[in-house]
Amino acid sequence: MWRQILDNGRLVVNEHWPGSVVVPAAIGIGGALACWILRGRKKKSIDLGDGWWGQGLRPHLQLEDTSVRPFHIEISDADIKDLYDRLDRTRFFSPLEDSKFHYGFNSTHLRKVVSYWRNQFDWQKQVKILNRYPHYKTTIEGLEVHFIHVKPPHLGPGQKARPLLMVHGWPGSFYEFYHILPLLTEPAKHCLNPDLVFEVICPSIPGYGFSEASHKKGFSAFDAARIFYKLMIRLGFREFYLQGGDWGSRITTLLSQMKPESVMGLHLNFAMLPKAGFGMLLSLALGRYFPWLVGLTKEDVRRIYPYFEKNVYALLLESGYMHIQATKPDTVGSALNDSPVGLAAYILEKFSTWTDNEFRDLEDGGLERKYCLDDLLTNVMIYWTTGSITSSMRFYKENFPRNYDQTPDVKLSVYVPTGIAAFPCELVHAPRVWAKHKFGNIATYTYMPRGGHFAALEEPELLARDIQNFVSTVEKR
Ligand SMILES: *[C@@H]1O[C@H](CO)[C@@H](O)[C@H](O)[C@H]1NC(C)=O
Repeated sequence: MWRQILDNGRLVVNEHWPGSVVVPAAIGIGGALACWILRGRKKKSIDLGDGWWGQGLRPHLQLEDTSVRPFHIEISDADIKDLYDRLDRTRFFSPLEDSKFHYGFNSTHLRKVVSYWRNQFDWQKQVKILNRYPHYKTTIEGLEVHFIHVKPPHLGPGQKARPLLMVHGWPGSFYEFYHILPLLTEPAKHCLNPDLVFEVICPSIPGYGFSEASHKKGFSAFDAARIFYKLMIRLGFREFYLQGGDWGSRITTLLSQMKPESVMGLHLNFAMLPKAGFGMLLSLALGRYFPWLVGLTKEDVRRIYPYFEKNVYALLLESGYMHIQATKPDTVGSALNDSPVGLAAYILEKFSTWTDNEFRDLEDGGLERKYCLDDLLTNVMIYWTTGSITSSMRFYKENFPRNYDQTPDVKLSVYVPTGIAAFPCELVHAPRVWAKHKFGNIATYTYMPRGGHFAALEEPELLARDIQNFVSTVEKR
């Protein structure tokens, strides 16, 4: 989500150019430029690269242990006691009158959440739910990588399950997929197309939840993409589908650019826009009044304008966390890793606002309109028990290299068939006509009727149907 914010910053500056001078000149120059760029585009891929992120020096002589080891989430009574002690000693404060969620998590409401957490939430029971699917760990590039691997329980005669790698983002986890997994692996049971059955692999990004964090600086989405590619190869999949939102979108997109020959299709519920080119600027300037001229639909117009309010101002209000995480993650990390209540407020505030921006106007942040507290707190507990909030935040710093404009994927299209599910409450709307600059092969593009940033958790059925629709379109081609 960072690239769009930077680019949007640029777009605003440019919006102030005098239209009468720019527009006619722009059409001429833009056209010429577009032809030139299109001609210069060649099919290429990004180097896979290599890395080693374990502690100390990379061992030279022994080969990496490639075993895939079953893993079971376990909890100790001591951990639960420690959590309760901390919850009991929370120092709450009073929110400003009538501030709702505008100053961050309403701390009066936080008391209610914490009381539920302390007295009703049953971590033992949630861990049983987590362990319902088979978990594994395997060592890649010096790190223990955690994942769940869910196979369909039944396959009809002649039926095959399509391998699908689903990647979460921040501040989420593999648990975001727990409600969509039954739909994808047993579609017939849930009134979905029974012929499109998936075998799903949901890894934890290194540094998130049960995947070990890098011990070295510089672990970015490129490295996560390569590690997940190696994981899929290790599991015996030469070709597979990909799905992601948030960081998962960035990681799966990069994987598609590294190994297009292995990717049957890429489905995103959060499409990052390309760097704002001339064509995009032009269509932004003209789009509000002449959308048909620049390929924007009525729905795009509804979702993008008024541009400043919806894209720049709203994002500035919501992106303070990102600046901190991309600069000094360890400082805030000290507090969040020490205080379960601070951690919950920090994480759950995102589940409020990123689900619907207008939830800021609600006293309880609208948290339980779309989710239940058991699900929300289970995700928080995955961060808490693994102590992984700091390493999860570092991922922002590592993905903002100073020369981010020159990262190898910037000028490269994505050539694999791509499906985009555009949810109306997503942080930034990516119209198809803009997404096409980056995704050269869009097979399906859907304006989803409702839902926000955490689509898999919030609207599992809508997302599952769109994934099925995408895959059937790709396979019919
Ligand atoms: C915070 O939430 C509680 C409901 O849990 C509500 O009663 C209170 O008025 C809210 N406070 C603010 C400042 O919005």
